[in-house]
Amino acid sequence: SAVEPCAIVLFGSTGDLTHRKLAPALFELAREGDLPADFAVVGFGRRPWGDDQYRESLRQTLEKGGGDDFEESWRRFAPHVVFVEGNLDDPASFDRLKRRLEEVDRTHGTKGNRLFYLAVGPEFFAPIVSQLGRAGLIYPRDDGRSWSRVVVEKPFGHDLQSARQLNRELQAVLDEGQIYRIDHYLGKETVQNILALRFGNAIFEPIWNRRHVASVQITVAEREGMAGGRGDFYDTAGAIRDMVQNHMMQLLCLVAMEPPVDLSADAVRTEKVKILQSLPRWTPEQVAAEVVRGQYTAGSLQGEDVPGFLDEKGVAPDSTTETYVAMRVLLNTWRWAGVPFLLRTGKRLPKRTTEIAIQFRNPPTSLFEADTEASPDVNHLILRIQPKEGTSLAFQAKVPGSRRRLRSVRMDFRYGTAFARPVPEAYQRLLLDVMLGDPTLFTRTDEVEAAWQFITPILDAWALPDAPPPVPYAAGSWGPEAADALPARDGVRWRRL
Ligand code: BG6
Repeated sequence: SAVEPCAIVLFGSTGDLTHRKLAPALFELAREGDLPADFAVVGFGRRPWGDDQYRESLRQTLEKGGGDDFEESWRRFAPHVVFVEGNLDDPASFDRLKRRLEEVDRTHGTKGNRLFYLAVGPEFFAPIVSQLGRAGLIYPRDDGRSWSRVVVEKPFGHDLQSARQLNRELQAVLDEGQIYRIDHYLGKETVQNILALRFGNAIFEPIWNRRHVASVQITVAEREGMAGGRGDFYDTAGAIRDMVQNHMMQLLCLVAMEPPVDLSADAVRTEKVKILQSLPRWTPEQVAAEVVRGQYTAGSLQGEDVPGFLDEKGVAPDSTTETYVAMRVLLNTWRWAGVPFLLRTGKRLPKRTTEIAIQFRNPPTSLFEADTEASPDVNHLILRIQPKEGTSLAFQAKVPGSRRRLRSVRMDFRYGTAFARPVPEAYQRLLLDVMLGDPTLFTRTDEVEAAWQFITPILDAWALPDAPPPVPYAAGSWGPEAADALPARDGVRWRRL
């Protein structure tokens, strides 16, 4: 369906997210003709800028993404961009924003439809929303003529209590249907393909359960450390808040959930919530047994020496923030009882790679000679989220010759080969969905709270005075060795990636 004319208002319009993701996504959407003819991108910020200066700052960023037709695309895009100077804590600024948006409705034909994107620190989420409400920029839901929607970036709370508080503050002004909580992993094509693979085929689902699956490993490995001056922020978050509470919980839900009755936003999200509710509420002893946290020290990556976490800019010299987390989780459901889900994520690991590996049970007896050099894993299905997007299934084949020897081989699907068009950026898809009013790929209130219900006891255990600090690991290694004990309990090993 077509996108209605609208104004996209960016809070944090000169910030990192706008320049790295939002502006490029909007530009690309416009270039591909996915935006309506009548749209405006409205930057709101403290700089004493007019439209031209803001346009110039975006132009400098977008130019880098270049392309042959950049000049032409930019010439068409630029007039849609405007800037409103204002302060987040100043009511008069919001009144000015309102007047400018009314003007934009006339000059750009945006018909009173507004998408407010909060690309700012979490401390500003509630104040901005309350100002928007006060200034009369949020329509009551049943207005029926124009729409207003608010996109909230992460982090959504820092524990269960603060997430609930934030939900209450947003809901004081907004209807649930007007709140779009972003988890950009859901915008990834390969993440959406998890449900397509499972429920668009009939061959996987019969074996997608405890009878046939021995374990599931979810890895989100990153090479990056604290690039872009993120040390400040990251030191207050840590890997569990930054990656596990949101992105990894989403991956886990999509892999583990029951089939939804249809693909409507509520049907899908209701099934995801059930998985989150099936997660354990760990005691501190259980946290100690099931979770390993680590912090990187100086090391070397691809031949380059890199500093340890404690020496990064913005990080407290005695910080106990974790940059690596591994855990072994059992889901309390009929489908998955007893199947370990092994999750790990970290900064400064040797590779950037995100994958989900479904390890199937071995044949009940072995008739063949196994190849001892090959992995002992007979059958696994790997969902490669990024990079090298695709899916592969490993199975045994007879090595040609007179012996009865087997070796692991693969059936492979790669996006790059199977589809002519490149995999679109997550933010493009997500922004488009907000404009279309489709919240399927956004996190619902109860989903956020259920995720925090699982995560908060872990944070609480780590905050106890006698909790052991994170285990050091050298940058460029695969994390603390202590993490090997988690899969070992079930006779499993972390996959070598
Ligand atoms: C963000 C985290 O949400 O996701 C970052 O804050 C992380 O720390 C990033 O690097 C990873 O995203 P992607 O799309 O590169 O896997």
